[in-house]
Order: sequence, then C-alpha cells, then structure tokens
Amino acid sequence: MEKYRKVFRKDYEKWYQENQEYRERVASDPRRLRFHLMPETGWLNDPNGLCQMDGLYHIYYQYTPFEPTGGIKLWGHYTTTDFVRYTNEEPVLFPDTDLDAHGVYSGSAFVEDGTIHYFYTGNVKRFDRDDYDYIMDGRESNTISFDSRDGFRFTEKKLLLGNEDYPGDMSCHIRDPKIFKRGRMYYMALGARDAHGKGLVLLYESPDLRSWKYHGRITTKETFGYMWECPDLFELDGQLCLICCPQGVEPSGVDYWNVHQCTVMGLDHGLDDDICRNIPLDAAAMVDRGFDFYAPQSFLDESGRRILIGWMGIPDADYTNPTTQAGWQHALTIPRVLHWKEGRLVQEPVRELQQMRCNERTFALGQLNAAGEDGIVFEGCFRFESCGHMRLTLRQGVTLTYEDGLLTLDMGNAGSGRTKRCVRLEELRELQIFSDTSSLEIFVNQGREVFTTRVYGLEGKIRLEGECTGTAVLYDLSGFIYQ
Ligand code: FRU
Repeated sequence: MEKYRKVFRKDYEKWYQENQEYRERVASDPRRLRFHLMPETGWLNDPNGLCQMDGLYHIYYQYTPFEPTGGIKLWGHYTTTDFVRYTNEEPVLFPDTDLDAHGVYSGSAFVEDGTIHYFYTGNVKRFDRDDYDYIMDGRESNTISFDSRDGFRFTEKKLLLGNEDYPGDMSCHIRDPKIFKRGRMYYMALGARDAHGKGLVLLYESPDLRSWKYHGRITTKETFGYMWECPDLFELDGQLCLICCPQGVEPSGVDYWNVHQCTVMGLDHGLDDDICRNIPLDAAAMVDRGFDFYAPQSFLDESGRRILIGWMGIPDADYTNPTTQAGWQHALTIPRVLHWKEGRLVQEPVRELQQMRCNERTFALGQLNAAGEDGIVFEGCFRFESCGHMRLTLRQGVTLTYEDGLLTLDMGNAGSGRTKRCVRLEELRELQIFSDTSSLEIFVNQGREVFTTRVYGLEGKIRLEGECTGTAVLYDLSGFIYQ
C-alpha cells in the first residue's frame, strides 16, 4: 500500500482478503500480548473515540494495518462489555476525502442524549511544492466531526475548522480535538504548536457542538516543549485537569527522560484565558514513568468512572520493538480508573481485569528470595509493612530496586535499547504489577506513580531480595478472550 494516497474501505477490504498469510505470521509471534489490545497486523498508535454506549465500550485507535513501521492512518475498532472479552471490528474511518487524504488522525467521542459525537483531525500534506516544511506551511489540519447512534454506523464527515480558523500566530501543527462540557457550554481542546515553537492547547467554545468560536489558549508561562499533542481536558473529583503530551522537553532530575512526555496539570483557576496562559512549570507532573506511554485518552463511562487508556508506545524513541520483524508493533495499555487525590493524579487498573486472575499464591516477602516463582504473564500485588531496601526481579535481567528513596526500573538486557527510569518516593508501601509476554505496567503506592514499558525477554523468575517485610500475592492471568 503506497503512503499518502487516499485509502477507501474497498481498498482495505481487498488488501485484507489478500493478506491471510500476513495475519497468521503475526498471530504466531510469541511476543503477542495476552491481555492487551494490539493491531492484528501492522502498526497501532493512539486510542481514539473512547466511549460507552448502551453498555458497549468502543475503543477505536490509530491503525496502519499494512505495515509495522507506520504510514497512512485509519481508525481501527475494538468493542467490549467488560474489558476482558473483545470483538475485533472492521476499521471505521478511512482517509478517503480531500479533507483527510493523508491520515484520519487522532480524535475523540462525546456522548450525549443517545448520540456519539466524534471529532478528529483530517491530515493533509500539500505535495504540490518542494519547499514546504510541513510545520509552518504545506499542511492542513482539518477539524472534522461525524455522529453515530451505535458506534458502527456514521453520518457524513463535516468540516468544523480549517487552517484559516486557527489564530494567526500558529504553525500548521494543530490537532487531536477533545470535548469538555462545562455548564451549558462545550469546549474543544486542540493540541498546537505556535509559530515560535511553543506548545499549547487551543480552546474553542460552542453552544451546540456545531458552530465553534475561539475561546483562548492554555499554556505555561515559560515554554514547555514545542508541541502539545493529544490534550484531554476533564474534571476529576472536583479538580479541572489537563493531560497532554508535550514534545521537546529537556530532562530534569529523574523527570522527562523520554523523547516526548505525557503530563497532567491541575488547572486551579478555571478556563479564563489570561490565567490559563500563565501556568507555572511546576504545575506539570508526569503521568507515567516508563518507556512506553503516550497519547492517552480518558472518557466517562456509563457508571460515571473516568477511564484512561494510553498508547503503550511512543513516537521517535531511540529504543525499538523487535516485534517489527514479525510484522506488528505497539499496543494499548490496560484501562485505568482515574482519581485526583491529595493534589495528584492516581491511576487504578479497572476491577474487571480481576476476572482473569487464576492460580492465586500468597507469600511472605522473605519467601520469594530463594528459588523464585515462575511467571511471565501474571499480576503481582506486593504489600510492604516495612522496606529499607529491596530488589525485585521481574524476569531475567529486569529489576525494580528501592534504595535511598529511589525506585528504579532497570531493563537489563531485555529492553531492546531501554535502560533505566526512576522516581523518588518517601516510602514504598505497595506495588501492583501487570506482566504480559512483552509488557510491564507497574502501579506504585496505589497508582500514585506508574511505569509502563515494553520488555523483550521471555525467560526468568520472580524473586525478591532485601530488607523488607510484608506479603505478596501472585496470580496467573488467563488473558483476553476474542469473540
Ligand atoms: C500522537 C499523534 C497525534 C496524531 C496522531 C497521528 O501520537 O502524533 O498528535 O493525531 O498521532 O497518528
């Protein structure tokens, strides 16, 4: 499939028919994950359009089925009622019009009165001249919407905003609309890069989700990266929050070692334009400490939970995923319920995942240091009554150590270029670890910190050494069921 050419549903269907062998090759890769959503073939990135309608969760995602290294983006589609049993649905959105010919980029869903309203970015690159840099010129970022009553059948794509509707001091990088309702007003957050290379969020307002007027911008006082991708604006336990993905932030202490970031900011003063332009840098906190976490999106489900799913991957990293050789790359994280506690974001795996638990084993922490326990696909819940220092081996070469207040994930020789990441903790009280064939999600102190990473090594045992007391419960996990 050629890059930068419109892709119609019929092109995809033809390609799908011709690629049974490709699907079988991918399916036989031992690194395929047991309880994470992956592309059936090719490449996956951001979760898109997350919502629940009549009990059914819709999880759309950026999808290039044709090749594992990315390329033209479609929206793939999974559905589930319980986050364990899934259906892999047909892709729903194709780059098939002049408004989105070079990729149906990321977007979101907003559910109200029995209708799902979708918003996304139509990416267009103007290939008519050689001198475009595609930052300041040569690119269209069209904000487009369409609706559905069931998540499967859709109205026509409608252009809401084009380049001429964005403020004059912007670059062409504007994308990833997300809707937030406050009072009777709807707000749309768009990730943006201004003409001077400063990252920000543009806010538009609307009384009816159709006509949109510029409201203002959200940004830090000092520059914090050159582009903020995938903004997500929402209220959480009474706190107005912005999650977004700043690109081009320098490392500082143990923070910001990935090539791109994902941060959360508490917006304490509402959406007033003047105040929102002056967020202090220290209002930003990292959402995840691992190597592979980016472009998350949250949504409110029908029971009122704010659930977040991220892309378990990152663009432009210098480490790699050996699954590429088997024809696929990347996955989505497990869903996490969000809360705001003591001035910070807290993430807790959705309780539905407990349905996968089997073969429960309980240990005193001291018992885990000798022979070690078998396990690659497992959940481990560690409760520390006291912990001076400890070293937890998760599989061959991969360790989590706690020493002098520093918790360090060391990928050893199983990182495919991934090295170490750390966080400072006053105390280590709890770890909840989800280990899949080629991923780790480590929730620290009841989700106050999280490390999400891919891992490449299928050998080894779980072992804990050090000076600590407490208990560990290990479960095998039965994995997702596809129906
Ligand atoms: C984030 C991102 C978005 C964009 C999409 C394209 O990973 O770059 O900003 O809409 O991916 O696939």
